[in-house]
Amino acid sequence: MTSPLTDPWHVLLGLGLERWLRERSGWSVAAMNEDAARAAVQQRLKATGLGPADYWLRLQQDVDEAQVLLDALLVHDTRFFRDRGPFLHLTALAARRRRSMRVLSIPCAGGEEALSCAIALHQAGLAWEQIGVTGVDLSEALVERARRGRYPRRALDDLPLPLRELYFRCRGMYCEPIAPLRARVRYLRGNLLDPPPVDGPFDAIFCRNLLVYFDADNRRRALAILRGWLAPGGVLYLGHAENGPWLEEGFRPLRPRTALAWVPCEPRMPARRRRARRDPALPRRPRGTAGRRLQQAERLYAQGRVSEAMDLLRGLIYLYPQHWHLLQRMAVWAEAAGEANYARRYRRWAERVRRRREDKEA
Ligand SMILES: C[S@@+](CC[C@H](N)C(=O)[O-])C[C@H]1O[C@@H](n2cnc3c(N)ncnc32)[C@H](O)[C@@H]1O
Repeated sequence: MTSPLTDPWHVLLGLGLERWLRERSGWSVAAMNEDAARAAVQQRLKATGLGPADYWLRLQQDVDEAQVLLDALLVHDTRFFRDRGPFLHLTALAARRRRSMRVLSIPCAGGEEALSCAIALHQAGLAWEQIGVTGVDLSEALVERARRGRYPRRALDDLPLPLRELYFRCRGMYCEPIAPLRARVRYLRGNLLDPPPVDGPFDAIFCRNLLVYFDADNRRRALAILRGWLAPGGVLYLGHAENGPWLEEGFRPLRPRTALAWVPCEPRMPARRRRARRDPALPRRPRGTAGRRLQQAERLYAQGRVSEAMDLLRGLIYLYPQHWHLLQRMAVWAEAAGEANYARRYRRWAERVRRRREDKEA
């Protein structure tokens, strides 16, 4: 039996592997399967022929090895039409809306989820030109695989036969999506917590089986980023295990008692604040020039142009320092950017504005 002092996994944790992993992916070691993570590390030590201390040095200098270890540590399981429900829901949503729909799949792993979204939209009766899906994943290897779009036959096992025949062409042991389907899905390598330049806003976002591996801070940051990418009326789909109370800070289930699809709501606030939020005198959104410029900032943010969006918002706050909504928005974005002190400053400022307004009304 290895003791914690000689176990390479523990030695690497002692050297800072936990922080290394969190900074690159947002994953928390506490949320992972320790045996699988330990085996992944052992396998890389064996492949490189290095002991834990030398391997640690190598990780700091060799970006390729860093990516290989990351890929080995993170869970990549996925399937076409995984859990069915969200895709059926997306089809129903698109059939009701009857217009172009843009969907983000993050993380998309090898493209199975992104392709399933495009199929779900096509099944709703949308023309191919009305469908736009973006898939993002942290793993370079998986994004490459998604772009190649070549899947072993058995990967399509969960797909009902008519859909398989309609949307894939199989030869030998492999199947490929048909050309119009492939053309509606694009892939990017990116980290959810370091927002990639995606071309949002999106009518639906699939972010399934990722937040469960984050700690509370990163989940909050991720949700604020996802919220910024959603178009008005947009829907967020999460995995089964991803519906803790932390979610309720910014989202509510689309239908009561269903944990399948979520829509943004104002964060829960203490009772005093909640009473104030129902006050019709409190502005919901600025109108006129300020409203248009806020929309412009939100569009930039949704495209992943976070610093431009924040600059624009900062300029707006300079012009309208008493606008609660602008201050709240800056607090949310600063929080998503990991700037906790900055976020706190804006929240306090917003709270002062709200109180002053309340006193005036009284
Ligand atoms: C379990 S798979 C989920 C795939 C798909 N959403 C599903 O539910 O079938 C998790 C994926 O998250 C990716 N990933 C991990 N951390 C990420 C991050 N911070 N940003 C984007 N993708 C990430 C991994 O590379 C892996 O492919």
